[in-house]
Amino acid sequence: MKQRSWAEPWKVKMVEPLTMTSPRERRVALDAAGFNTFLLRSEDVYIDLLTDSGTSAMSDRQWSALMRGDEAYAGSRNYYELESVVHEVYGYREFIPTHQGRGAEFILSQLQVKPGQWVPGNMYFTTTRYHQELAGGRFIDVIVDEAHDSESEFPFKGNVDLAKLQRLIDTSGRKGIAYLSLETNVNMAGGQPCSMENIRATCALCHHHGIPVYLDATRCVENALFVKCREPGFEQHTIPQIVREICDQTDGCTMSGKKDSLVNIGGFLALNDLTLAEEARNLLVCHEGLQTYGGMAGRDMAAMAVGIRESIEEPHIRARVGQVHYLGQRLLDAGVPIVRPLGGHGIYLDAARFLPHLARCEYPAQALAAAIYLDSGVRTMERGAVSAGRSPDGAEIFPKLELVRLTIPRRVYTQAHMDVTAESIIEVFEHRSEIQGLRMVHEPKRLRFFQARFEPIVA
Ligand code: F0G
Repeated sequence: MKQRSWAEPWKVKMVEPLTMTSPRERRVALDAAGFNTFLLRSEDVYIDLLTDSGTSAMSDRQWSALMRGDEAYAGSRNYYELESVVHEVYGYREFIPTHQGRGAEFILSQLQVKPGQWVPGNMYFTTTRYHQELAGGRFIDVIVDEAHDSESEFPFKGNVDLAKLQRLIDTSGRKGIAYLSLETNVNMAGGQPCSMENIRATCALCHHHGIPVYLDATRCVENALFVKCREPGFEQHTIPQIVREICDQTDGCTMSGKKDSLVNIGGFLALNDLTLAEEARNLLVCHEGLQTYGGMAGRDMAAMAVGIRESIEEPHIRARVGQVHYLGQRLLDAGVPIVRPLGGHGIYLDAARFLPHLARCEYPAQALAAAIYLDSGVRTMERGAVSAGRSPDGAEIFPKLELVRLTIPRRVYTQAHMDVTAESIIEVFEHRSEIQGLRMVHEPKRLRFFQARFEPIVA
C-alpha cells in the first residue's frame, strides 16, 4: 500500500503571536545572554525549540478541566482523579504528586541512595544525576555503546548493556548498588528508545540480584510508539498496553508531566512498595506539599489527568513523532550531520561533525546553538560538554556526544515552522567554517549549563 501522510488530530482554536526580530536585535540579545540560549528572553525568540518541557499546547478539554480545580488543602477531588488515571495508565500502587520530575527525583534519591553507592543508568540526565550525587551516590553509565555513536543506525540505542551491568554487579555486589535508573526514550542519547526485550532482560537481571529498577517514565509513551513500530511482535499491541508492560517490569517511576503528559507543570513519583511510599510522603510534606497535592495546584492535577489520557492516543503520538521526523528528514536530505535513527522528541545536530574546526574545549555545541539563533531567532539547546559539567573530582567531562538539540514542543508549531527551522540550519551549515568557538567566562558550580556565560574566541 502507498504510504499516506500523517496529520495532526486537532485543529487550532487560539493563536499566540510570535516576535520577529532583525539580525541586529538578535546580536544584542545574544550578547546580553552571554551566548547562552537559556539566558535569552523568550520575547526575543521566534521559534522556541529549547525544550519540549512544559511547552505543550493544552487541549480545550484540558483548559476546561482547569476550571474544575478543587483547591482544597487536603483531599482535593483532582488528586483522586489523577491518582486513578496514573494507576490505570502506568500501573504502580502508590502515587505521589510533585511539582515536576526533579521533585520526584529528589525524594527517590534521598530515600534509596546511600553515600558511596553506584547508581547505574542508561545514560545520565542532568537533574537525575544531580540528585543521585547530592544523595552521595555515583552515577555509572551502562547504556549500549551504540548510544554514544551518532552515526549508528541501531534501532534501540536506549538499551542497557547487560554485560556492563553484570560487570558492575560482579564488582560491587548488591550492597554497592542503590538501584538501576532506567530511562525510556533516552533524552541525552537523542530521544532513543529501549526495546521491550531489553527492558525485560534488564529488570530480570536486576531483580535476580535484589536490585530495584526505577523508571524515568518522562517520555515512556514515545518509547511505546517505537516499540510498536520497530520491535517484532508488537505491531498489534496498543500504545496503552505497551506503556503498561514497560512499567509493570519496574518497581516505580519518576515522571515529569511536562513532557508526555501535555501539561505546563507537574510530575509524580509512583511506587509499588508501601513502606517506601510512606517514607516518600514524609519527605514530600516537607519539600513539596501535602500528600494530596504535592507540588501542584488542584487545577494543574485536573489538566494532567486529561493530558495523560490524551497522551496515549495513537493518532496523537504518531503525529507528535511524525513532526519530529519530518524536520529530521529535511536535514538528512540536505546532508546535515544529525543523530540517527531519528528520535522521539527532537532532532540532535552532531556539533562535533558540524564544526570539525573547533576543539571540544571551545564548546562547539554551545557555539552552534548561538549561531542558529543569530541566523533566524530559532532557539535550541546545547547538549554536550557544557551540559555534562564536571565530575566529582572537578575535571571537565567531555562526553562522546557533543550535540545541539532542536526539541519540538507538542501540538505547538506547524509544518511551516519546521520548514523555516530546516532552512535556517541548512544556511548555517553552508557557512559553518565562519563559526567561532567560545570561552566560558562565568561558570556556576552546579548544573552550569543553565546560567554559564560565554564570549567568542576571536582569532
Ligand atoms: N528526566 C528526563 C529524561 C528529563 O528530560 C527531564 C527534564 C527530567 C527528568 C526532569 O524533569 O524538568 O520536570 O524536573 N527535561 C527537560 C529537558 C528539562 O529540557 O529535557 P523536570
